[in-house]
Amino acid sequence: MEIVLGVGGGIAAYKAALLLRLMTEAGHGVTVVPTANALEFVGAVTWEALSGRPVRTDTFEAVDEVNHVRLGRRADLVVVAPATADLLARTAAGMAPDLLGNVLLTATCPVVLAPAMHTEMWHHPATVANVALLRERGVTVVDPAVGRLTGTDSGTGRLPEPAEIWERAQAAAAAGAPRRPRASGTDAEPTPGPLAGRTVVITAGGT
Ligand SMILES: Cc1cc2nc3c(=O)[nH]c(=O)nc-3n(C[C@H](O)[C@H](O)[C@H](O)COP(=O)(O)O)c2cc1C
Repeated sequence: MEIVLGVGGGIAAYKAALLLRLMTEAGHGVTVVPTANALEFVGAVTWEALSGRPVRTDTFEAVDEVNHVRLGRRADLVVVAPATADLLARTAAGMAPDLLGNVLLTATCPVVLAPAMHTEMWHHPATVANVALLRERGVTVVDPAVGRLTGTDSGTGRLPEPAEIWERAQAAAAAGAPRRPRASGTDAEPTPGPLAGRTVVITAGGT
């Protein structure tokens, strides 16, 4: 499979390195797309060395490769771990301020988001509504675990272990993508027939 591994700017970003290892060891090609804030936690060197591929964050890097469309289109699976509260909100709103946002908008494959954040952020009505909307659209949102968070805090919001995320991601990939309309010209759309646009009444029986 071709996988895009998105990484958000949360303290659990380091765990995505273990997730990446599980993916590459299973023989998959993985392109890591961190947000700019994710690079504050784990640098591009780590992602490039572990994936063996260049790492881009900004939509305007390597424009000749048209990554903002190409990566999402060719992906068989997109996994974001950790998904921050901000990233969930942007994704639910369909925003694409960076490369990862563009990937999430162009991907028609299964998408798995693994949120991690402080308990208050997870239970905030905005986050609750964003998660509900994303699930309604067919995105797999993995529930965060309970345990140690940043600093001395603990509670709901911990990123599940990489093996658990990988298991959910493989299940989502096996189940396939939810149906969604394709962009005009990118797939075989039904050609309008001679009755397109007409309202027809059909009667039957002994009339
Ligand atoms: C030390 C530190 C840890 C953070 N951990 C998290 C986190 O686990 N989850 C989260 O949603 N935000 C966390 N944040 C806040 C995000 O970094 C911030 O909302 C940022 O805008 C997210 O950017 P991104 O979604 O583009 O990656 C943390 C910030 C700092 C400084």
